[in-house]
Amino acid sequence: MEPAHVKRSAHCVFRSTDLKATNAWYNKYLGLAKTDDIYAGEKDNLLATFNHVDAGDEFVDHHTLLAVQSDSHAFNHLSFEVADFDDVQIGHEYLASKGKYKHAWGVGRHVLGSQIYDYWRDPWGRIHEHWTDSDMVNMDHKPGLHSTEEGLVSQWGPEFPGDSFLDDPENHAVQPIPA
Ligand SMILES: [Fe+2]
Repeated sequence: MEPAHVKRSAHCVFRSTDLKATNAWYNKYLGLAKTDDIYAGEKDNLLATFNHVDAGDEFVDHHTLLAVQSDSHAFNHLSFEVADFDDVQIGHEYLASKGKYKHAWGVGRHVLGSQIYDYWRDPWGRIHEHWTDSDMVNMDHKPGLHSTEEGLVSQWGPEFPGDSFLDDPENHAVQPIPA
């Protein structure tokens, strides 16, 4: 048994206490552009924003940064693109075999971004994602606005775990941090 064949680190997700200011900062200083917003309840109650790299006409990943509105700042996950669907499953079996990683969500296929995903927590409770087969967008993309019911479900696979997926990693640590 061997690990998945990671091609690159690809996107990150973090929580922010001011989603609009976070999006504005990444747009102004890193040139990221909005791909899709998710709202909860009223349409102006934004819960999360997917942002992509501005590479002009060139197609890039659906998101490089997903920022989520929250009551605290925290890193959520870093993602790694793997070779293909087989490789997502290979990574799943490998991490499961080690006995020291906690499965967090997956395997499934997102609606927004369309990646096949598999999320795991490391021994410190932090989430890492293996994925493959993302949607691609360029600067002709018109940002979408989606409800949580539309945006947080999967095309197939298990339901979104809810708040536990966004909890502080310390709540999910499976062993003490090595000295
Ligand atoms: Fe992700």
